[in-house]
Amino acid sequence: MSSALRGTALKQFQSHYGPRIEQALDQLLPPAGEAPQNLHAAMRYALFPGGKRLRPVLALVGCAAAGGDPARALIAAAGIECLHTYSLVHDDLPCMDDDALRRGRPTCHMVYGEATALLVGDALLTLAFEAAATAGLMAVRELAIASGSRGMVGGQMADLEAEGKPRTGGLEQVQWIHDRKTGALITGSLFVGASAALGLGEELPPAFAAKLRRYGDCLGRAFQIADDCLDLTGTAQELGKNPNADLDHDKLTWPSVVGLERSLAMARELAEEAASLAPQIVHAAQEWRGATLHALDGIVALLQDLAFAAVERRS
Ligand code: IPE
Ligand code: IPE
Ligand code: MG
Ligand code: MG
Ligand code: MG
Repeated sequence: MSSALRGTALKQFQSHYGPRIEQALDQLLPPAGEAPQNLHAAMRYALFPGGKRLRPVLALVGCAAAGGDPARALIAAAGIECLHTYSLVHDDLPCMDDDALRRGRPTCHMVYGEATALLVGDALLTLAFEAAATAGLMAVRELAIASGSRGMVGGQMADLEAEGKPRTGGLEQVQWIHDRKTGALITGSLFVGASAALGLGEELPPAFAAKLRRYGDCLGRAFQIADDCLDLTGTAQELGKNPNADLDHDKLTWPSVVGLERSLAMARELAEEAASLAPQIVHAAQEWRGATLHALDGIVALLQDLAFAAVERRS
């Protein structure tokens, strides 16, 4: 796992759960030698080695914040990473962002061809729901809402439609896109994980869910603003993808509307807002689960590390 996500609490969490996430992914994916071999090899090519694995970490943290043992959310967390990786494989296709480099290697379609890359996405998306089912019905529902036409796919559509157009929609339009193409799955990851902590017939209390949602929405928006800024300031070595890709496609990005400096400042403000919500999330969890729940120790620091890592990262 990349060291891009820093902070002591986060580092400790990653060194414990990082290898478990990799193991869960390896178990979830069919072996590369299983027929159809080309498809299964290509799925593994897209997933290993991975990127930051942010979304599975968020799922495990979401489970812990809801008072659950993160181990209960491991398979579902691996499923979310499959769904995220599908979105990257399709995002890189010539008919979308037409990118040749991803996670430091040639993109899936460059190696396996476009038709196989399309099917890799289809298969990873489907596998994600098989995995989410291990965390219960609520988890499946959260993942479906986050990734469908009102979430990630809807954001991707609007992203493509805005390419090369005048910036008449201002920040409101780019925010709409970012909240869906990236924010929805980031918030969804926390909720899939939190769902794994629920007993049969149990629901997340509204007070807890509202704080967690606001945290995820701030984090998701900040994360995509940072991605837009890194496209302008990062190197291929750091990013594992080609920089200036947004400029080449005349994408509607945050810096294309308010400039780089203002974008960096706004991402920071969102990270600070997310960090300020961390104690409130844990307080709401304690009210729900009981004030002395030791499992919640350390969750505030973890949520805060994640918030700042989203904007301080170089990859
Ligand atoms: C890239 O996501 C696509 C966006 C939503 C910005 P990540 O930056 O999380 O990519 P990986 O998973 O680390 O490769
Ligand atoms: C993609 O946003 C968001 C997805 C749903 C994949 P970008 O197109 O900015 O992601 P990168 O920069 O290619 O990783
Ligand atoms: Mg894109
Ligand atoms: Mg892209
Ligand atoms: Mg980008």
